[in-house]
Amino acid sequence: MMNSLLPLLALLLLHDDPDALIAYPMQSADVSNGHLNAQLGPSIKLERELSFLSDGQGGGAELYEDDRLVIASDFRAVPGLLPSREMTVSAWLSVGQPRQWGGVLGCVQDNNDAETGWVLGYDNRHFTFGIATVGSDDGNGSMTYVTGKTAYEEGKLYHVVATYDGETTRLYVNGELDAESTEQSGDLLYPERAPFTLAAYHDDNEFHAHVGRLMDVRLYDMAAQDDWVSHQFDHHSDRTDLPARIPPERAISEELLWQVPPFLQYATGDSIRIVFETTRPVTGVVRYGETSEFDREQRIDTPLMLGEVMLDGLDADEPYFYEVDLKDDRGQEIRTDIMTFQTAAPRGVPIAFAILSDTQDNPTVSATLSEHIWEQRPGFLVHPGDLTGTGSRKGDWTEEFFPGMDGLLGRVTMYPVLGNHEQDARHYYKYMSLPEPEYYYSFSQGDADFFMIDTNRNVAPGSEQYEWLDDALGRSDARWKFVVHHHPPYSSDENDYGNTWKGRGSRGDLRARKLTVLYDKHDVDLVLNGHIHSYERTWPIEGGRVVDDGGVIYTITGGGGGSLETPGPSRPAFNNTVRRGHHYCMVRINGDTLEFFAYDLDNRLFDHMRVDKRRAPVSQDR
Ligand SMILES: [Fe+2]
Repeated sequence: MMNSLLPLLALLLLHDDPDALIAYPMQSADVSNGHLNAQLGPSIKLERELSFLSDGQGGGAELYEDDRLVIASDFRAVPGLLPSREMTVSAWLSVGQPRQWGGVLGCVQDNNDAETGWVLGYDNRHFTFGIATVGSDDGNGSMTYVTGKTAYEEGKLYHVVATYDGETTRLYVNGELDAESTEQSGDLLYPERAPFTLAAYHDDNEFHAHVGRLMDVRLYDMAAQDDWVSHQFDHHSDRTDLPARIPPERAISEELLWQVPPFLQYATGDSIRIVFETTRPVTGVVRYGETSEFDREQRIDTPLMLGEVMLDGLDADEPYFYEVDLKDDRGQEIRTDIMTFQTAAPRGVPIAFAILSDTQDNPTVSATLSEHIWEQRPGFLVHPGDLTGTGSRKGDWTEEFFPGMDGLLGRVTMYPVLGNHEQDARHYYKYMSLPEPEYYYSFSQGDADFFMIDTNRNVAPGSEQYEWLDDALGRSDARWKFVVHHHPPYSSDENDYGNTWKGRGSRGDLRARKLTVLYDKHDVDLVLNGHIHSYERTWPIEGGRVVDDGGVIYTITGGGGGSLETPGPSRPAFNNTVRRGHHYCMVRINGDTLEFFAYDLDNRLFDHMRVDKRRAPVSQDR
């Protein structure tokens, strides 16, 4: 019975289905004149050549991070493309790289609490369908993400269908109902404007490309029934038997170039990591040693584009020399200059380090500050987050962050934390090479221990990071303890924590402030924050009050490039110094003495603090 129906159904769907709004088979034959042609709907201008598969199981496109398949940059410019109420969206796909915000087809704006449109996609483990309707509109739209229960296997093909009939939203995986919700009702609620995009989660401030296989993407202005969905699946159910396939790295240019020149990560007393990315798969060698004669090497024998090499067996607080020398399959070569790095200092050795935060989207300013920092020859660099403006966009890393920091990160190890603008994106974890789980970690330099925390995640008592920090701070025997996280527990900013021109506001991030109990308990010396794009230093604080004996000093050094912010009109008691302007800081420690310096974009000193643990707890001058 079912088999006899299949040809008819296939015919209906492939050729004459009157309700299909768009259909993209996504086969190699669909590409002509630099466009991906639709069976129904607009053709898509390609920014680069697409890869296709031919394995006798339907083929399909194999998509990569840098593919862009924008059907319409604003859906309203192409009327009639989208359903207004009932809808069905279906696709065959494999997830080659799981991500929190995966997208297959969507027209969506999800910015803070304004949520409109719809998107078929996936999160790190399950398929999802996000939908906003008139019936659940809270004024600026409210989206329900219906999340399936089937945990997908990376690289395996799945048939995924979402339907909405005006009352119930359903998500099907491989022909079976996987999740449903009645939270949304009525007509679909669309944004004022939004891109309509295939193979990405795409709105005004996010572009999360689908990496993996995709084919037979279809959109209808009707709600399909269960048996329709299962027939659709049955027609090609043998695709699910295909072995998992993870897209291999592929060249992104003819010429061999650095996408990211080699940079240093996680220096310890006896090791360091070197990370780089090229535009073509390469093999080669990292040579290193105590002189530029390089008596040691690490080989890269398997072709790769993103390389990460660990050098170990090193001596603490010693200068080393290195070069990265690579070659592609065409014999093109790329090699660094003779570079330098320094291992972490052991206890008892003075240290000097730089702080630069919130470099986001401003390589001009971060390049100037990086030059100033390099002139001071710090031992290492601490970055309290918001390296990028949009962490999920690869270009924010390869065209903004790394170019802005070029010249510094190849010689000075950067220890970062995640800011909100990193969006917890895969690129951060890909480029940064830090101890697991990477969103928190610690390191030691000289007489200081550093505790690096992700305040985008829950940091309340009982949370993973709170408990880890309590334990790690308790076990630290360092003379100096520093905690680094993006969000500031204390801030004079005019409007990030309530409008201070019209009310008192909370004067800091209340989620992060919960951590201050641990700082008091474990005698933390300094807390280094960003997020607010200005400079601020507090008096020592304990139990939420300014003290003149002991206490924790909080700094905000978010002037690394992001657009500047302004303090509110009145001065909170905790504030010692606040200053609008791009800047960086230097910290120098020798035994019981700490010196803290802040410099503006012209490299002029504008703030200085000295802490001496032996004498009066803090002396400060400006
Ligand atoms: Fe931020």
